[in-house]
Amino acid sequence: MVKPISLSGIKPTGTPHLGNYLGMIKPALKMVQQYQAIYFIADYHALTTIRDGKELRRLSYEIAATLLALGLDPEEVVFFRQSDVPELFELTWILNCYTPKGLLNRAHAYKAALDANIEAGRDPDAGINIGLYTYPTLMAADILLYGSHVVPVGQDQRQHVEITRDIAQAFNNNYGEIFVLPDAVIQEDVASIPGIDGRKMSKSYDNVIPIFAPSNLLRKTIMRIVTDSSRPEDPKDPEKDNVFNIYRYFAPADEVADVRERYLHGGLAYSEIKQNLYEILNAYFAEPRERYNAYLADQTRLEEILMIGAERARIIGSKIMRKVRRAVGVRYERELEARPQ
Ligand code: ADP
Ligand code: TRP
Repeated sequence: MVKPISLSGIKPTGTPHLGNYLGMIKPALKMVQQYQAIYFIADYHALTTIRDGKELRRLSYEIAATLLALGLDPEEVVFFRQSDVPELFELTWILNCYTPKGLLNRAHAYKAALDANIEAGRDPDAGINIGLYTYPTLMAADILLYGSHVVPVGQDQRQHVEITRDIAQAFNNNYGEIFVLPDAVIQEDVASIPGIDGRKMSKSYDNVIPIFAPSNLLRKTIMRIVTDSSRPEDPKDPEKDNVFNIYRYFAPADEVADVRERYLHGGLAYSEIKQNLYEILNAYFAEPRERYNAYLADQTRLEEILMIGAERARIIGSKIMRKVRRAVGVRYERELEARPQ
């Protein structure tokens, strides 16, 4: 039986953190049994913000090593770097011609940058590059090029998948059923993991707990998680505590239930739960951390894995591109002569 396709990308814009792990990496890796998984490092998306070539390459390797260390099997998953698939650009241009400008005007990342400029009294377009503006079209091309059925992502990416559907629908309305309409798969319970300052954990807020932080840094970072000023003996609401809202995903269920009771009834010091969280995370990621360091130290091996993945991705993508080219009427293809429509 042919499995449906699950596709996702992760941007190499910073060191991967627990929000990425719980919101995207873990659910995506779980899906590899039921789906043909296609996962990639979205380095072209990162280029909208990363301006240092060496840094982008290093961050791309970090993402590759992270996913492999966490159990991604490159034989099972088509795993590659976005920029190794040139067909993506061909499709991006074609989709651009089916993307209403108004749709991109409403895209979150662009709108946030625009609003920030207006609020600061700057020119509305100051510092905004067209890469940021057309980011959603490149992402639509990522998704549509491989015929993806589902896209496991965090909550913040829902709009991008909806935009992808809109573009695909406009295209299909004109040319027939060429693209699969994808669905976002979002784990509602881990949709937004808090960072150490209580805002959403994000590379852009500098509030992250890196997945593979060395023990001492991990402990230091956890001790810095912002908590309220209640005393150990005070009853506390676990749902509102940033430490608990990370702890709950890693501790065994019975321990989580016990700790929840201790929050509600009082008698739990934040320093104790922080120490507890540190020990759990340190043990949870100990083995993958060793694998991560070994992968990072062997870039030749990483390149080999990514190049094999890119070849496999191009085989899948080329089939869809052939249909797209034929539909829109571009490029000469031998195959067109052999099999005229
Ligand atoms: P960041 O916000 O740190 O830049 P990305 O935008 O690169 O992270 O997100 C990569 C993936 O991880 C996306 O699918 C995103 O939805 C998910 N993700 C990022 N931060 C969180 C979070 N705090 N909680 C849950 N999921 C997250
Ligand atoms: N935009 C996604 C993010 O910031 C990364 C991404 C790029 C992606 N292309 C994708 C995710 C295609 C899913 C599918 O996290």
